[in-house]
Amino acid sequence: MSDLATPNVIRRADYAPPAFLIDTVALEFDLAPERTIVKSTLRVRRNPAAAHASHLELMGEQLEFVGASLDGQPLANVRAHEHGLTVENVPDAFELTLTGACNPAANTTLSGLYVSSGNFFTQCEAEGFRRITWFLDRPDVMATYTVTLRADKAAYPVLLSNGNLVDTGDLPDGRHFARWEDPFRKPSYLFALVAGKLVALEERITTGSGREKLLQVWVEPHDLDKTRHAMDSLIHAIHWDEKRFGLELDLDRFMIVAVSDFNMGAMENKGLNIFNTKYVLANPETATDTDFANIEAVVGHEYFHNWTGNRVTCRDWFQLSLKEGLTVFRDQEFSADMSGGDQDEAARATKRIEDVRVLRQMQFAEDAGPMAHPVRPESYVEINNFYTMTVYEKGSEVVRMYQTLFGRDGFRKGMDLYFARHDGQAVTCDDFRHALADANGRDLAQFERWYSQAGTPRVSVTTSYDEAQRRYVVTVAQGYGDASPAARETQKGPLLIPFAIGLIGPDGADLPLRLEGEADAHGTTRVLEVTGALQTFTFVDVPVKPLPSLLRNFSAPVIVEYDYSNDELAFLLAHDSDPFNRWEAGQRLATRELLTLATRAAEGRPLELDDAVVDAFRRVLTDETLSPSFRELALMLPSETYLAEQMAESDPAAVHAARQFVRRRLAHALKADWLAVYERHVTPGEYEATPVAAGHRALKNLALSYLAELDDPADAVRLATAQYDAANNMTDRSAALSALLGAAASTGGDFVQRPLQDFYERFEKEPLVIDKWFALQATQRGGAGRPVIDTVRALMAHPAFNLKNPNRARSLVFSFCGANPAQFHAADGSGYAFWAEQVLALDALNPQVAARLARMLELWRRFTPKLREQMHAALKQVAAGVKSRDVREIVEKALA
Ligand code: TRP
Ligand code: ZN
Repeated sequence: MSDLATPNVIRRADYAPPAFLIDTVALEFDLAPERTIVKSTLRVRRNPAAAHASHLELMGEQLEFVGASLDGQPLANVRAHEHGLTVENVPDAFELTLTGACNPAANTTLSGLYVSSGNFFTQCEAEGFRRITWFLDRPDVMATYTVTLRADKAAYPVLLSNGNLVDTGDLPDGRHFARWEDPFRKPSYLFALVAGKLVALEERITTGSGREKLLQVWVEPHDLDKTRHAMDSLIHAIHWDEKRFGLELDLDRFMIVAVSDFNMGAMENKGLNIFNTKYVLANPETATDTDFANIEAVVGHEYFHNWTGNRVTCRDWFQLSLKEGLTVFRDQEFSADMSGGDQDEAARATKRIEDVRVLRQMQFAEDAGPMAHPVRPESYVEINNFYTMTVYEKGSEVVRMYQTLFGRDGFRKGMDLYFARHDGQAVTCDDFRHALADANGRDLAQFERWYSQAGTPRVSVTTSYDEAQRRYVVTVAQGYGDASPAARETQKGPLLIPFAIGLIGPDGADLPLRLEGEADAHGTTRVLEVTGALQTFTFVDVPVKPLPSLLRNFSAPVIVEYDYSNDELAFLLAHDSDPFNRWEAGQRLATRELLTLATRAAEGRPLELDDAVVDAFRRVLTDETLSPSFRELALMLPSETYLAEQMAESDPAAVHAARQFVRRRLAHALKADWLAVYERHVTPGEYEATPVAAGHRALKNLALSYLAELDDPADAVRLATAQYDAANNMTDRSAALSALLGAAASTGGDFVQRPLQDFYERFEKEPLVIDKWFALQATQRGGAGRPVIDTVRALMAHPAFNLKNPNRARSLVFSFCGANPAQFHAADGSGYAFWAEQVLALDALNPQVAARLARMLELWRRFTPKLREQMHAALKQVAAGVKSRDVREIVEKALA
C-alpha cells in the first residue's frame, strides 16, 4: 500500500460525480481523550447520475476499525485499509453502520478530532472528516446530520454540534449526553463538535423576518471578558448581510467557539463557527487596533459563509474560490461599510489600500513563483496547500470586478439569481459567472480567463495629446511579462480588464470625460473595458494636456506600467481625487527611489535622496485636511519584502540598507514635524476602538517609529518609555515597545530591557499577548554584532515557547523567517539552516503548518547567487527528510 500512498496528482479534468449519495448521517460519539468511539449510521443510495459501481469506497484515515453492519446485519464483506474502507457488492439503497475509534489526545495535526487545553474540537475542512469516521468525504455529497455526544459531565459540561439542540440528559457513571439536529443538508467539511469546560456570552436578536435568534460566543472562563467585540461584530455582520444582500440567518441559534490551537484563522461550520482565539478575544489591554479590525473582518467572513459556502457550496475543491473569493469580497465590503458607511470615500479607501497592499505583497509574489496557480487550480497534490492568496485575495478581486463592471445593483441582481438557481446545491465557479452574466444580460465568456490563467497581468499604457484636435489617445497593451513557468503554461489569451481612468487638469481638478462617439461628456472616472492585447481609447474635447490617473481604486488585479516623472507622481500625490491613486502615487515615488538606492547599496556606492521626495512626504505629513489613517498609510514605505521582489535579483541586505537610509533621512529632515504630529495625535481618555481613534494612534505611532531612527533617539526613548508606562491599550503599549527595540538596535541602549521584561510579566497569563512578545523580538532590527537569529534561538528554549501551538510557532519562527528579511537572509546562511530545522520539526507534528513555513523559500531562484545557493541547499535538506505529502509538494515544486 505504501508505494501507492506517494503523492498522486488530483486533476480538475478528472472530476466525476460520486457513485453513491448519502442522504442522512447519524453520529454517536463516546468522547474520551485517548480513545473516542464513533458510531456512524448512513442512509446510502446509488447516484442515478453516476456510472454504476458495485463496491462502496469510503475515505478514512488514522481510524481503528471496530465493527460494521448493513441493514442491521453484521457485515463480512467489508475491508478497512490505510486510506478508507471498502464494502463489496452493495444493494441500490441501504443503511450502513460503521463503528471506529480515534485518538484525539495524540492528534497534533489539528485536523479531525483533537484536544486543546483539555477540551475537544474538530476541524474538517478540507479533508478532516475522514479522520473522524469513514465517509464520502467530498463536498458534493450533502446530507442531514443528527449528532449525539456522550462524555463525562464534570470534565465536559458543554457539548456542542451543528444546528439545533433537541435533547439532553444524564447517563450512568457521571456521564451525560446532548443531541443536535442540523436541518440543512451539508457537506462533511462543515461538520463540527465541541466539548469541554466553556462559558458563553449570549445575546438574543430579532432578524428581518421577525424571528428571534440566540447568539453565543463560547470561550474558556477566564476569557469571558474578551468576547464583547466579537459579539458586536457578529451582530453587525448579521444586519449587514440582510441590508446589503437580503440574506438572513437561517438557524435559530448561531455559535462561535474560540480555541487556542488552530491551524488557520477560523472555520465556518454550519451554525458552529470555530475560531482561532486570535480572531475572537479582544479587550483594550490585550488587543491592538489591528486585532479589533481583524476580528470584525473574520467574524464577518465566517458568518457570510453561511450563504456563500454553506447554503451554496463547492462541487469540488478546485472550486474553492467560489466560496472563498466571494466571501473575502463580502468581508472586505463589510469592513469598508463599517468604517466609513456608503458615503465616506476616504475611509473606504483606507480599507481598500490595506487590502491591495496585502494582495500585491503576498499574492503577486505567489504568482511569480513555483506555486503560481489560477484562481481555479487545475491540479493539486495536497488541497490544504491551495488555501492561498490567489484563491482568497485574487479570487476576491475577480468577484470585485463583476461589481465594477455592473455596479452595485447589477452585482446584487447577479447574487440574487445565483441563490435562486443554486440554493442547496454544490456548484462551480462557472455557475457563479453565468448567474452574473445572465442577470446583467452580458456574455462573460472572455472573463472566464480570470479563473483559468495564472500570473499577474501587466497593463502598459502610453498616451498622446493632440492640442489642435483636443484629442487624448490612451493606448493600452496587456500581457504577462516574464511569468514563471508554472504561470506561463496557463496563459492563453487577453483578459477582460475593467480599467478605471480619470484625467486631471493642470489645476489638479478632474476633467469631464467624453469618449469618441459619445454625444457629450459625463463623469470624471470612466471604467474602460480592455479586451484586446492592444487597444486605444480616444477622449475628445480635452481642453488641455491632462495627467492620467490610471486603474483608479485598483479596478483590476494587474500591474500598471506608465512612465510618470517624479514631478507627475508628486502632483498626483497632492491632487488626485481618487484617494487610492493618491496613495499609489506616493508608493510609486518611494518604490522608485528605494530601488535606485538598493542598487547603489548593493554596489557599495554612497546613498542620497532627492529633496523633492522629502518635500512630497512633508506635504502629506503636515496636510491636516487628510485623515490620519490615510497619512499613516501614505507615509509608510513599501515593505522590504515587496521591494526585494521588484529587484532583478533580490538582495535583502541592500534593500534594508536603502530603506533604513530613507527612514533615517525622513526622520532627520522632518524631525520637528514628527514631534508635532506625535503630540497632536495622542488620544487621551478612555480607549475607543473606532477607525478614527485608531487612525490617530497609527499616525502617532508611525511618528514615534521614525523618531526612533534618529542618530540621537533621546526624544523617542523618552516619549516611548512614557507611552509604554502610561498606556491604557495594547496598540500604544506594543508600539512603544517596538520603538524602543528600534532605538536599541541602532544605539545598543539598555532602555528596552525593563519594558520588555515588564511586558512579559504583565501578560504572562494572556497567550495572545505573549505571542506579540515573541513576534516583536523576532522581527526586531539587528544591531551591529547582535544578529537576531541568536535571540530567536534563545527564545526557542524559553519555557513559554511551544512548537505544537501554531500561534506560538507563527509568533517566533514564522515572524523571523517571513517578516524579518534582512536577518533571515543573513549572508552566513544561519537563517536558512534554522528554517530547515523548523520545517522538519513541524513536519512531524503538523504538516499543514509545516507546509506554510516551507513556502518561505519558494522564491529562492530570484535571489542573488550567493543566497540562492544556500537556499537551494536548505531546500534539498528538507526534501531529503520530509515525511508529509503537504511539505513534499511544496519543496518538490520549489526544486523542479
Ligand atoms: N474555510 C476557512 C475560511 O476561510 C478556512 C479553512 C480552510 C480552515 N481549511 C482550514 C481553517 C483548516 C482551519 C483549518 O474561513
Ligand atoms: Zn473562508
